[in-house]
Amino acid sequence: MAETQRNPIWRVKPVDLILKQGNEGEHSLKRTLGPLSITAMGIGAIVGTGIFVLTGVAAAKYAGPGLILSFIVAGIASGLAAICYAEFASTVPISGSAYTYSYATLGELIAWIIGWDLILEYAVGAAAVSIGWSGYFTDFLKSLFGITIPKALIASPFSGGIVNLPAMLIILLITVLLVIGTSESSGFNNIMVGIKLLVILFFIVVGAFHVHTMNWQPFLPFGVGGVFSGASIIFFAYIGFDQISTSAEEARNPSKDLPIGIILSLTICTLLYILVTAVLTGMVSYKQLDVSSPVSHALILVGLNTAGSIISVGAICGLTTVLLVLLYGQSRIFFSMARDGLLPAFFSHVHPRFKTPYLSSILIGVVVALVAGLTPIDIVAELTNIGTLTAFVLVSAAVLILRRTQPDLRRGFRVPWVPVIPILSILASLILIVSLPLVTILRFIIWLVLGLIVYFLYSRHASKLEKNYAD
Ligand code: ALA
Repeated sequence: MAETQRNPIWRVKPVDLILKQGNEGEHSLKRTLGPLSITAMGIGAIVGTGIFVLTGVAAAKYAGPGLILSFIVAGIASGLAAICYAEFASTVPISGSAYTYSYATLGELIAWIIGWDLILEYAVGAAAVSIGWSGYFTDFLKSLFGITIPKALIASPFSGGIVNLPAMLIILLITVLLVIGTSESSGFNNIMVGIKLLVILFFIVVGAFHVHTMNWQPFLPFGVGGVFSGASIIFFAYIGFDQISTSAEEARNPSKDLPIGIILSLTICTLLYILVTAVLTGMVSYKQLDVSSPVSHALILVGLNTAGSIISVGAICGLTTVLLVLLYGQSRIFFSMARDGLLPAFFSHVHPRFKTPYLSSILIGVVVALVAGLTPIDIVAELTNIGTLTAFVLVSAAVLILRRTQPDLRRGFRVPWVPVIPILSILASLILIVSLPLVTILRFIIWLVLGLIVYFLYSRHASKLEKNYAD
């Protein structure tokens, strides 16, 4: 409390209070998710535009076949952060992800910054994924039905079009699903995740027969620097495991199932990515991969047209699940922030019948659809990466801080080798941040400044922490 009296921006929300709040009150959500649904949700969130779309441009322009190493580098950074997220998810198993964790440890200002920062991961990330979805969808219509949508309607004004209509429409469709409710959406999610995994395995097996090792040479055409630049782009492919923690209030046994879901889903995805990249860069020259649907394109290049169409269908399903989890996560983070008073109450308003924060979901859906329709994929994907990496840095730091400030707190899962793992996690994420293009770093700084303005003009005064809980 001494901290609180000194300056309210450092006030922390007591963990006990956070836990209590999750189980009661007018804003509570339905607990329907079991461990299988949670892991499926993780994989559903992880495997998407990163592997299906960004792999192509990252191999062609940044890393060549060395992209396999990029996936290992980004996988290590994500794995280290995942271990830290698992401790928090098991300690503070409440909706809101890194935002909630930091409110309990680093104070309100940092929590706000993370919440603001996560808008990049979730909402802007959803825009990037929907643009990837649009690429595969357009390809699918063309290869199967011979329908060609005019470029004006499938590209943003920055990419030579007017608006990316399929990207906008899929966002609005997912928004409707989320408004209707979690359990319905999670059943839909499980089916889509199954299709996505089958399609990835299908690609690995079929493609393996068409690998020519000469395509792996030269292995590092852009040098070691290219491996890191590539890693900072395809890091996007790993984003998602942390989103499992946003479903904590809808999980039946969060302190056990959340760490399992986080670590299991990330491990499965890392293995799949390494195999997919090895096969992809082994099938064709990396120079041929700079297209919007590289995985199906590679199959078509080696004469496997039907297999290419199958991949397109799988990618469309796969990317849909990513969108579902990203948009779901965003509405739950706003829900938590509004419950704390940092955002207007509008965002935590739960529908009486559906039990979902429907107003928040609708507003997010409309804004994300506009961004998706009007922005190119590289800008939004890189912003998503930097936002997420910054959250990783702060969450890893928060593990260290909470171990010191509240050593006796009940933790369902503990990070081993503290402080080594959290420190390595911070360093790994920082390395990826500085490997991103400078313009992305500048855009990110502008975004943070905007967030600070909102905090000091509105949220700081509207915060419920002082009013309700200080005593
Ligand atoms: N990891 C997710 C994807 O690649 C965000 O689409």
